[in-house]
Amino acid sequence: MESDTDVLTAGSPVNPVGRLLVVGAGYTGRRLAAAAARQGFEVVQTSRRPPSGATPGPWLRFDTQGGVIPEPADLQRITHLFVSVPPDGQGGDPVLRLLESRLGALPLVWAGYLSTTGVYGDTAGAWVDESAPTPARPGRSQARLEAEQAWLASGLPLQIFRLPAIYGPGRTPFEALRSGTSRLIHKPGQVFSRVHVDDIVGAVLHCLALPAERRPTLLNVADDEPSSSSETLAYAAHLLGCPLPPLERFSSIEASLSPMARSFWQENRRVSNRRLCRELGYRLRYPSYREGYRDCLSSSKGEPLG
Ligand SMILES: NC(=O)c1ccc[n+]([C@@H]2O[C@H](COP(=O)([O-])OP(=O)(O)OC[C@H]3O[C@@H](n4cnc5c(N)ncnc54)[C@H](OP(=O)(O)O)[C@@H]3O)[C@@H](O)[C@H]2O)c1
Repeated sequence: MESDTDVLTAGSPVNPVGRLLVVGAGYTGRRLAAAAARQGFEVVQTSRRPPSGATPGPWLRFDTQGGVIPEPADLQRITHLFVSVPPDGQGGDPVLRLLESRLGALPLVWAGYLSTTGVYGDTAGAWVDESAPTPARPGRSQARLEAEQAWLASGLPLQIFRLPAIYGPGRTPFEALRSGTSRLIHKPGQVFSRVHVDDIVGAVLHCLALPAERRPTLLNVADDEPSSSSETLAYAAHLLGCPLPPLERFSSIEASLSPMARSFWQENRRVSNRRLCRELGYRLRYPSYREGYRDCLSSSKGEPLG
């Protein structure tokens, strides 16, 4: 079977659907790049450290902190832009800060920006859709809102994809269960929304296949079943056939958590995918963590337990 690397090194398609620039080819960006290449896009990816042996052209160096930006010649004929670089806390968006004038000169027909459902804040477990308020709060959420606002003000043909916790191959509870580092934490009433990385890719490509006027500017990409972390961990342990770690009550361990982990647990919301699945007709490949975890486990078979 053709691998992602094969697809991306096979050379440019003869009549590409478009030329896609993936700014920030990390976990999600690389999977989107590979899927777009399979659909006939010519793909260019950026990283602060492109993989060793990577061909220049398909890979560009881009580092907002080091001020390393691609040359205009490398960006010629880019028609589609996909950005997955997070904000850096300096206000606005780091990609736009360095590249806005170069991007504005491109024949772009579509730009996708990956954001987070963290912008909705804590809703005490209530469902949120794209019309929900995005309360200003200091820290990461405020930085993300400012980045979204900078993209919205860019005048590019933009779609913002708001994502909950991303999981997929290599990013599941299996890794921590196998290494004995997972924690079973229970906070009554607390749920988290999630999405499998291939449903982000699927949702983005689904939007690209729609007529431009049907593409919403804001889109939540989440699965159908927000669930507690203890429920999902229990299912992962069941699939692995390994014991669960001892149950810890959130109230007893809260003080020992890092500020990042504490802020994660302070927000309780259910993210609605109604717009994506009902209005735009996208069919989730992984409607819940159960299908997603089973698939991740079968694709990682052979890895030793603990
Ligand atoms: N992970 C989650 O659960 C989650 C949830 C909601 C939203 N999000 C957001 O969704 C997006 C994609 O998530 P992901 O997990 O796929 O991200 P990821 O794997 O961390 O990839 C992020 C990409 O951004 C690039 N990047 C980071 N800092 C940069 C800088 N200073 N200059 C240039 N490039 C830089 C990285 O470059 P290198 O290739 O050099 O590392 C990488 O390619 C991110 O914005 C993330 O914040 C993530």
